[in-house]
Amino acid sequence: MSEPVPLTDRFGRVHRNLRVSVTDRCNIRCSYCMPADVVQFKPRQEILRFEEIERFVRAVVPWGIHRIRITGGEPLVRRDVATLVRRLARVPGVDDLAMTTNGMLLDHYAAPLRRAGLQRLNISLDAIRAETFQRIARRTGLDRVMAGIDAARQVGFDKIRLNAVSLIGTTEEEVIPLAEFARSRDLELRFIEFMPLDAEGRWQPDGVLSGAAVRGLLEAHFGPLAPLPRDDPSQPAVDFAYADGTGRVGFINPVTEPFCGDCNRLRLSAEGQLRSCLFSTENWDVRALLRGGASDAAITDLTRACLMAKKAGRGTDDFEFVRPPHAMYQLGG
Ligand code: 5AD
Ligand code: SF4
Repeated sequence: MSEPVPLTDRFGRVHRNLRVSVTDRCNIRCSYCMPADVVQFKPRQEILRFEEIERFVRAVVPWGIHRIRITGGEPLVRRDVATLVRRLARVPGVDDLAMTTNGMLLDHYAAPLRRAGLQRLNISLDAIRAETFQRIARRTGLDRVMAGIDAARQVGFDKIRLNAVSLIGTTEEEVIPLAEFARSRDLELRFIEFMPLDAEGRWQPDGVLSGAAVRGLLEAHFGPLAPLPRDDPSQPAVDFAYADGTGRVGFINPVTEPFCGDCNRLRLSAEGQLRSCLFSTENWDVRALLRGGASDAAITDLTRACLMAKKAGRGTDDFEFVRPPHAMYQLGG
């Protein structure tokens, strides 16, 4: 039998990861993502149903997609999302099923998610002090996230990862306490540079707190960090071990150290638009196919067309940032 032709783009990047956003809604309002208050969410009928998402996944998995991450908005505000997890966990060929959540509802959902077959959790936590949390999220809820982290550990999720977006003038003071917290709980921590995907358009190139700067703060406190080998080059984080051997910490530096050359990710938005990059300005309308009785072959053809249009980086072929028309909560991190 011949090998299936992988999902390869013009630059030879073989695509194996799919991020599926299940909602554009969220229960908090992080300043690097959402507008503060009034948000025009998509009406329900425009959002893909679980069976539509499963159909898309089943169509692309035979072509080499084997890692799936469920995102939002906040995926846990989508009713019954564990049912989607159960459906995707059963798809032969899906061998890594993960979710990125803000953790606010995780104390209720950790157990059902685990039972449904979710393998890994990334929890967003930018600050460990309530005041900073509230300043960023524009809502209270740090205690909810902490309860969520505890619940996730209790039900048996291991290798839980914390994602912390770094914001200049706001999160510097959080770096050491966050690192101490993560080390004490055996959680992996990753600092992420702020990208121009905030709904309010406040991002400025000179306002980015770089991964190198955060690393400097950590090294001043914990001593030199030792780089760890990278097992998967398409994985954007660079991880380090602490000098005393306890725990590890990583950096995702999309602004100062773009990793587009190894990108193997595709993104399906909650309303069924396929994008090859966070910074794509074009969408590929999977929903129209799903709702128009299209064959699986038509769905994979569209996926390949989307990939053939994938740019070298950041939605452009010259690696400049061009702000896309969508913010992070509409795209799915
Ligand atoms: N820049 C960097 N990371 C972001 N996230 C959301 N918006 C941005 C942004 N503008 C992160 C969230 C979450 C993940 C889905 O993406 O914190 O961890
Ligand atoms: Fe919600 Fe995530 Fe956006 Fe924060 S980053 S507002 S948690 S969707």
